[in-house]
Amino acid sequence: MSMASTFLLPLLLLLPLLPPAEPRLTLDYYKQTCPNFATIVQDVVVDKQMAIPTTAAGALRLFFHDCIVGGCDASLLISSNAFNKAERDHEVNQALPGDAFDVIIRAKTKLELECPGIVSCADILAEATRDLVSMVGGPYYPVRLGRKDSVESRADDVEGHIARPNMTLTQIINLFAARGFSVQEMVALTGAHTIGFSHCSEFANRIFNYSSPTGFDRTMNPDYAMGLRKLCANYTKDSTIAAFNDPMTPGKFDNMYYLNLQHGVGLLASDQAMAFDPRTKPYVDLYAANQSAFFEAFSHAMEKVSVQNVKTGNKGEVRRRCDAPNTLQTN
Ligand code: HEM
Ligand SMILES: *[C@@H]1O[C@H](CO)[C@@H](O)[C@H](O)[C@H]1NC(C)=O
Ligand SMILES: *[C@@H]1O[C@H](CO)[C@@H](O)[C@H](O)[C@H]1NC(C)=O
Ligand SMILES: *[C@@H]1O[C@H](CO)[C@@H](O)[C@H](O)[C@H]1NC(C)=O
Ligand SMILES: *[C@@H]1O[C@H](CO)[C@@H](O)[C@H](O)[C@H]1NC(C)=O
Repeated sequence: MSMASTFLLPLLLLLPLLPPAEPRLTLDYYKQTCPNFATIVQDVVVDKQMAIPTTAAGALRLFFHDCIVGGCDASLLISSNAFNKAERDHEVNQALPGDAFDVIIRAKTKLELECPGIVSCADILAEATRDLVSMVGGPYYPVRLGRKDSVESRADDVEGHIARPNMTLTQIINLFAARGFSVQEMVALTGAHTIGFSHCSEFANRIFNYSSPTGFDRTMNPDYAMGLRKLCANYTKDSTIAAFNDPMTPGKFDNMYYLNLQHGVGLLASDQAMAFDPRTKPYVDLYAANQSAFFEAFSHAMEKVSVQNVKTGNKGEVRRRCDAPNTLQTN
């Protein structure tokens, strides 16, 4: 008997005692059970995005917030009820646009007609987000399927997991690290701010009554600051006023966000900080110089986001409707 088999034999005897491997996500998960899955999602997404161009940014943020809190399990789609306040109603998710939820509900409705009880809301959300990102000019990355939906959703679970613009970069880096993302991946993911809006309250402290000679954040381009002051002049009375995250190419998914940061045209304090901090600046400069490098990094990081803590097999359920678990959550 060789040395190798002497060592291997005890290991082989132990193998049957290990628990069975978790089912893995696969690219062709619905090939037999719902062959038109991808086409149906794609059709709904195209219709919705053409009608309501703010859908893509809303869905991307929705998907990120779902995955970062308890995994990609569509828990963020569940509505609150008399017994329970759901994730969706946590303050940080309040500004998520209704159209982002609506595009998922529409796809689910069509899929339930075609293949009832088969496709999870979590898979629809992952697939639709990728389709929307690429539809507005971003990269097309593979989305593995087979996620199950959560059977509950709690607003309390959101606390402390979502980054805020008034956090220090160290706090934000630590939040991403806690989910397994490097500083480089964090910078790439935040390139999502190349599309969409932020409400004035998220950056008002940078443009009004800031303690500097000009009264605005000194890292801001002065013309940009003055423009935002004008736009937000009435924001305390009208909380719906919002500014483009990327004022140069607001609806296009490109690397303009990073070029903006280099010129003091970052909207959120946390965005702008990344252009100056030595931990993040090299990546801002890299992605500003090379859009392909950004798209490649964003794709890989999104694939990683998309498999955060996924529930497979009997760990979750396929919800009949995306806004409620199949059994009423009463606690
Ligand atoms: C670095 C940490 C981050 C902070 C502090 C942050 C914060 C914010 C804030 C405050 C808004 C404005 C919300 C509003 O007023 O409606 C926003 C918008 C947005 N965020 Fe982030 N975010 C971060 C990272 C990310 C990541 C990683 C993604 C996705 C991969 C993302 C995607 C978006 C999108 C697409 C919007 C626009 C939403 C819309 O137009 O409806 N963000 N973010
Ligand atoms: C940051 O902003 C959030 C939400 O607006 C607020 O609740 C919190 O108190 C702020 N934190 C700091 C340190 O200003
Ligand atoms: C700025 O400060 C002035 C005087 O302290 C105050 O009247 C005003 O309401 C403040 N503006 C904002 C937007 O906070
Ligand atoms: C500010 O908001 C108030 C309340 O919505 C509105 O009546 C007023 O006309 C607005 N002013 C400007 C300059 O937009
Ligand atoms: C840009 O990035 C891509 C992808 O990483 C790389 O293949 C290419 O060589 C880079 N281009 C330049 C000019 O550095």
